[in-house]
Parts: sequence; C-alpha cells; structure tokens
Amino acid sequence: MKRAFITGIEGQDGSYLAELLLSKNYEVHGIYRQSTNGGSPNLKPLKANATVFEKTLFLHPADLDDAKSIRVPLEKSAPDEIYHLASQSHVGASFEKVEETCRITGLGALRLLELTRKLPKAPRFFHASSSEIFGSPEQSPQTEITPVNPITPYGSAKALGTQMTRIYRKNFGLFAVNGILFNHESPRRGENFVTRKICRAVAAIKSGRQSELVLGDTSAQRDWGHARDYVRGMWLALQHDTPEDFVFATGKLHRVQDIVELAFKTVDLDWQKFVRQEKQFFRPADPRQVVGNAVKAKQLLSWEPEISFEQTIAEMVQSELNALAGRVAN
Ligand code: GDD
Repeated sequence: MKRAFITGIEGQDGSYLAELLLSKNYEVHGIYRQSTNGGSPNLKPLKANATVFEKTLFLHPADLDDAKSIRVPLEKSAPDEIYHLASQSHVGASFEKVEETCRITGLGALRLLELTRKLPKAPRFFHASSSEIFGSPEQSPQTEITPVNPITPYGSAKALGTQMTRIYRKNFGLFAVNGILFNHESPRRGENFVTRKICRAVAAIKSGRQSELVLGDTSAQRDWGHARDYVRGMWLALQHDTPEDFVFATGKLHRVQDIVELAFKTVDLDWQKFVRQEKQFFRPADPRQVVGNAVKAKQLLSWEPEISFEQTIAEMVQSELNALAGRVAN
C-alpha cells in the first residue's frame, strides 16, 4: 500500500485528491490548520465513512508557518508521495496580505522541500504551481518553458516555490515536480473565487434571497477547467518515470462574462437585471492572455481534461440550488 501526504487536504483540490488516492488504495495523511479544527465541509463524506476515516485516512493539525509542526506527522507517516497544495491562494487578497502570501505560499513550499530532502527515504514531491507565475505573458498559449514573470504578489510567491522545486530537483536529486495549474473549479471552490461567487449568487437570486451580483472586471479571461481533472494530473505527474514539470490546462479562454451568462441562463434569468461591476473588486494588476498548452501532459501522461467549461458551471449552479433546497428543507 502506497502512502501519500497532502498539505491543504481540506481545500477543493486536497479533498478530491484524497478521494482519488483512497480509491487507488493509498493510505492518505493530510494536514489541516489548527484554526479550522479539521472541520472543512469538503472532507465531511470521508470523515463520515467509518471504513476510511482513521483506517486509511489520517488527519493531523499542522501549520505551514511552523516547520516543526509538519515534521512530526511527515516523519511518522513516511510517505511515498507528497502533494503540496496548501497556500494563501487568493490572488486578489495577496495585494492586501503581501507578506503573509510570501510566507505561506512561497516560503511554505521551500520549508516542505527542505523537510522532504532530509527524510531518510525522500518521497516524490508534487508542488501545485500556478499559471500566475507567467504574469501577462507575451507568448500564448503558455508551456512549461514560458518565461516566469509574475505581476501579482501571489504569482511571485508561487514563482519562488516553482523555482525552488526545480532547484531541489536539479541540485539535491529530489523527484520534485511542478504542476503548473491553470484555473480549475468545482462546487468545492472557495466562495471568494469568481466562478463560485457567481454560481452562489445565481442560486440565491433565483430563490429570492439576493437581489444583485457585484463583480469586478467581467471582461477578464481565464483558462478554466474542472478540479477533478487536475488532481488526476497531479497523481499522473508523480507516476511518470522521470521528474518533469507539466502544464495542466484546457487551452480554451473564456471571459468572466461568459460564466455570468451561462449561469443565469441555467436558471432562466436575465443577467442584465442583476449584475453590476464595482471598482472594489478590480485588481491593481490582473494577468491577460492566460491560456495553457498541455500537450506535454497529453504526450507523456496521456492526460486530457474530460469535463467541459459548460458542464463545470452547470454542476456548480446545480450544487448551489441543491444546497439552498436542503437548507429550506431543514
Ligand atoms: N474573485 C473574484 N471576484 N474575481 C473576479 C471578480 C470578483 O468579484 N470579478 C472579476 N474577477 C476576475 C478576476 O479579476 C480574475 O481575472 C478572474 O475573475 C478570476 O479570478 P479568481 O476566480 O479569483 O481566480 P484567479 O485567476 O485570480 O486565481 C485562481 O487561479 C489561479 C491559477 O490556477 C486561484 O485558484 C489561484 O490560486 C490559482 O493559482
């Protein structure tokens, strides 16, 4: 039985990845922040499953800011594979919390690499890198060799983790890889990311609980995939013969406005009656032309996204409607 160690197991990606690995008969260890008490709704089904929880899934409190708190569960679990997903992951918030973002997102990755290197038998290491490392690139679509040139504090912190992963691979012989992940969404997405914010609002407006949706720049474009596809890519990247960086992306650009129109259409409402833009949600800098070319992942890992943008948004709206219906029924 293989053992995996996941940072950020409570998040969207961490919870889907835990489910995937458990289905492949891994023993999974995850760390959660003391402040959340391990109470993330994303882990509820797994924690309620008596054949899994504390049998093949183990959760440990630890803080990325405190190497000691990670060392103990890491050494005890002696994993074959580490998936480093935890970070301060909100790009907009990184402009307000610059230092914290650099500490958690940038230095956090370095701390974990250093701990990994010192383990008696170094596990394979996956770093969740981001398309934000490219900033607003001149080359489009982006690949693994597109120059790193971030324009946001978050992108800069991720660039540090990405470069360190490469440095530890080259200089210390670690099987360390970057998955350069473009945006990926699901009903488990945090509420302050734009897809979830829109889908939640649409369900709330449909049920008469909210009267408007206030957004930032609706002309902003991203390459949006589904998180379930991307965690499959993470696992594949660590099963490959050699340590390589991989772009995971759909190769398709959509506007925030496209999400708005799709989501409102799902519930037969006219978006124009409810949506407005406000400066407070615009960012000081926002990458442009962020679209990935995942041909390397396709060729070496046989990875391709399976869930479309339209399916993702429909699933997210439906999940919000279900949640509201559940709340009413309760
Ligand atoms: N969050 C948010 N809220 N974004 C808005 C809004 C709003 O009201 N209005 C417009 N946007 C625009 C943002 O300016 C950005 O251009 C786009 O919607 C997507 O924003 P987010 O959903 O917050 O995601 P992100 O692209 O900044 O970052 C996500 O993807 C990266 C790449 O995969 C995060 O998941 C990062 O952690 C990740 O690295």
